[in-house]
Amino acid sequence: MNFEDFNKFAMGFLIALLGAIGFNLLSEQVFHQEPLVANAYPIDTSMVASASVADVVEEAGPPISELMQTADASKGANVFKKCAACHTTENGGAHRIGPNLWNVVGSDVATTDGFSYSDAMLAQEGNWDYELLNRYLTRPKDAIPGNKMVFVGLRKETDRADVIMYLRQFADTPFELPAVAAVEEVMEEAVEEVVPEAMD
Ligand code: HEC
Repeated sequence: MNFEDFNKFAMGFLIALLGAIGFNLLSEQVFHQEPLVANAYPIDTSMVASASVADVVEEAGPPISELMQTADASKGANVFKKCAACHTTENGGAHRIGPNLWNVVGSDVATTDGFSYSDAMLAQEGNWDYELLNRYLTRPKDAIPGNKMVFVGLRKETDRADVIMYLRQFADTPFELPAVAAVEEVMEEAVEEVVPEAMD
């Protein structure tokens, strides 16, 4: 095990521990609020692999809504150098290997005129909100399998937030910034995903 692996392992263990503690607190709350349910019995938390709670929490990372609060468009301009070979941003700018990105933040996926998108991109539902952009820019080929943006992704979450902040300026009316999600909300979502029946 090299040093980096060990670090990951140690981090994973810590997160698992925190996850387990959080889960305990939460399940306590759930059952305190419903003392009269006939068949209520405490969930044996030892049977829930705390690692799976941790996985979900770790995967989620700090929510993009939170990262956007401190994102910096001028740093994003620097990050965008990695994109500029394939994308322009000005209104009416040319398509290069990728489509022009004027007004892309908040708009429906794959709707810029005159660019021939891949079928995978055309099939992607929804709009480029902060969550989807964050997921796509983390690892394009996993977020939308089969899309043709040949770009490995931005590993640093702050780079992603900064570049999204930079991009959102290129619009007549920049897309509204997200509200901050409460920490409890994120925690609850993570637990819900692992043990849905506990929250019913
Ligand atoms: C090697 C070229 C290349 C690089 C580098 C690149 N892209 Fe792309 N990008 C593309 C292509 C091609 C598509 C269209 C994908 C498809 O249709 O499957 C695309 C699509 C997109 C879309 C969706 C556009 C729409 O109209 O729905 C966004 C947003 C985007 N890229 C942002 C970025 C950002 C931000 C970066 C830099 C961090 C980046 N791209 C780097 C080629 C690239």
